[in-house]
Amino acid sequence: MTIKIIGTGSAVPEQVVTNDDLAKIVDTNDEWIRTRTGIEERRIASAGSGTSHMATEAAKKALAQAGISAKDLDIIIFATSTPDCCFPSGACEVQAAIGADKAVAFDISAACSGFIFALHTVHSFFKAGIYQTGLVIGADTLSKIIDWQDRSTCVLFGDGAGAAVVRAEEHGTLHMTMGSDGSKASALACTARTTDSFLTGKKPELGYMTMDGQEVFKFAVKTVPEAIRTVLSEGGTHIDEIKYFVLHQANYRIFESIAKRLKISMEKFPTNLERFGNTSGATIPILLDEMNREGKLERGDKIVLAGFGAGLTWGATLLEW
Ligand code: COA
Repeated sequence: MTIKIIGTGSAVPEQVVTNDDLAKIVDTNDEWIRTRTGIEERRIASAGSGTSHMATEAAKKALAQAGISAKDLDIIIFATSTPDCCFPSGACEVQAAIGADKAVAFDISAACSGFIFALHTVHSFFKAGIYQTGLVIGADTLSKIIDWQDRSTCVLFGDGAGAAVVRAEEHGTLHMTMGSDGSKASALACTARTTDSFLTGKKPELGYMTMDGQEVFKFAVKTVPEAIRTVLSEGGTHIDEIKYFVLHQANYRIFESIAKRLKISMEKFPTNLERFGNTSGATIPILLDEMNREGKLERGDKIVLAGFGAGLTWGATLLEW
């Protein structure tokens, strides 16, 4: 039993924030950001346009493209580390907004690997014969947990949402791998925001993202090629058979290093991070949606998705479009 993506959608905030805009609030410049990351601009959500709002827009577009009703969905899994509420889950908010009354809906937290983890979880339900039609969402509003005084992180991220409608299929390819290493959690972290209780007497704390950029860089360029090799080997697929490697959009230099290690041309690594930055759980489905709508993907194409992020977590999927 495998998975077929039958519709994709994405949504990003209207507000464009360029590298020059950021140079007005922190000591940075366009040249540094472009050369170190490949990012030129990003989208930042305004008040009232949070994670679930963007996710709902992306989900509606994915359903329209799939040509199915929200009422046909059995399961919605929403990957996010920046939900609008502690509860209800973002998945339940999307479920209500699109009217998917039959679907079970829940969130998972795997940071930038979230979409891959969510896709694999839906696949497992399909394989077990429990559900047949699902909606997988990756959406984040990282702008609300960024320290806008910290130039080493604030230039990297943006807000956005991507979604894919998936269906169980008897035939086709899907091989997957996932991993986690909680012992390296401090390399990329954001503590929860708390008001504490009347007993602790502590003041409210606003958790902000912190990152050891070089540690994350080293982790990504080691782990992602290994994960890609694993799914190719399990799928009995030669690397040359892969049309595209759809990677988590974090840094152009990470792509270059991975391409070099795998001895693959950069042409096989589509990117959109120059326009959106790192939108965490949303990067892979937003890019997939763009490629799909531009007609770059044809039925039968073999592609590899690969993500990595806080946790630390990582994962790769070999799938047939
Ligand atoms: N603008 C200008 N200078 C900056 C800067 C910015 N936005 N951010 C950091 N710097 C400075 C540093 O202070 C440092 O200055 P110093 O040499 O005077 O101390 C210098 O630039 C080099 O910093 P360094 O951290 O060594 O740069 P780097 O080459 O490692 O690039 C990252 C930094 C963050 C771009 C890079 O490490 C990276 O991309 N890591 C992966 C991060 C990632 O993808 N995270 C998300 C994963 S899901």
